[in-house]
Amino acid sequence: MADTQGVTVHNSIDPKKNFHLDVPAGKTVFHCKGSDNYDWGMKDRLSRIFNPKSGNTLMLAFDHGYIMGASTGLERLDILIPELAPDVDVLMATRGALRSCVPPMYNKAVALRCSAGSTVLSADVTNETIGTDIEDAIRMNASCMAVQTFMGTEDEKSSLTNLCNTINAGMKYGIPTLGVVAVGKQMARSPQFFSMATRVIAELGAQLVKVYYCEDFEKVTAGCPVPIVIAGGKVLPPDQALTMAYRAIQEGAHGVDMGRNIFQAEDPKAMAQAVAKVVHENYTDKMAYEFFLDTKK
Ligand code: R5P
Repeated sequence: MADTQGVTVHNSIDPKKNFHLDVPAGKTVFHCKGSDNYDWGMKDRLSRIFNPKSGNTLMLAFDHGYIMGASTGLERLDILIPELAPDVDVLMATRGALRSCVPPMYNKAVALRCSAGSTVLSADVTNETIGTDIEDAIRMNASCMAVQTFMGTEDEKSSLTNLCNTINAGMKYGIPTLGVVAVGKQMARSPQFFSMATRVIAELGAQLVKVYYCEDFEKVTAGCPVPIVIAGGKVLPPDQALTMAYRAIQEGAHGVDMGRNIFQAEDPKAMAQAVAKVVHENYTDKMAYEFFLDTKK
């Protein structure tokens, strides 16, 4: 019970209290695209992902093990992640990697890989289910849940069902869903496909979308009403990877979810820092590459 000792009830409000009657009630504009109408918890989690100052995010993707085991550069997560965690905003990983190798006291946002069910040993990796459910996402304090979609493949419906089920569960508890546009082996990486797929994911209710960078990218981002982050893809020379990140941000992306171009770089930490300069500090690709060359060991 509240301590009422010393509190006297009067007919009028104590004149010493200051209600700042000359100051209008505070209003804020939320910094994430398309997110004004979400609930507080959802916005709090999005703010952990997207830096409120820059509006952007740098996610470190190291969830590759869920389909391919220990890929090059990710053999020892317990060594790599402590090196890179300070330089990124979000750790994108599986629950197994997080629980076994990543100390929880980093206090980083987590993009939790939730879809699962195929490996590179199968003909195609499109046949997935939900491997990590909402209860475990809550337990892991996930800032968002990542689900792969495979539009245009025979697993289109099941992957979109995985996405919708995850969004529905996330809406109950205020956890955003990251819908990932994956490209089946037979699919072209065309701007038309990426434009359609990102819009479909947003319309189904995902709060953020991940897609590859492509030609006409500003049209892809303009047509997607929620923030887009780009996937890194196969390793490029560092100057080209930084140019891709720079163009993506200039053309409306709100972040980079990069794996191999960071952890397989000559100096992963210098590369993570250089990408962060592009994402958060308006560095051009040339400035970021110079930073990389000056910083790398
Ligand atoms: C897809 O979402 C994958 O699991 C990776 O997270 C994604 O491919 C990003 O990694 P990378 O930059 O190596 O392509």
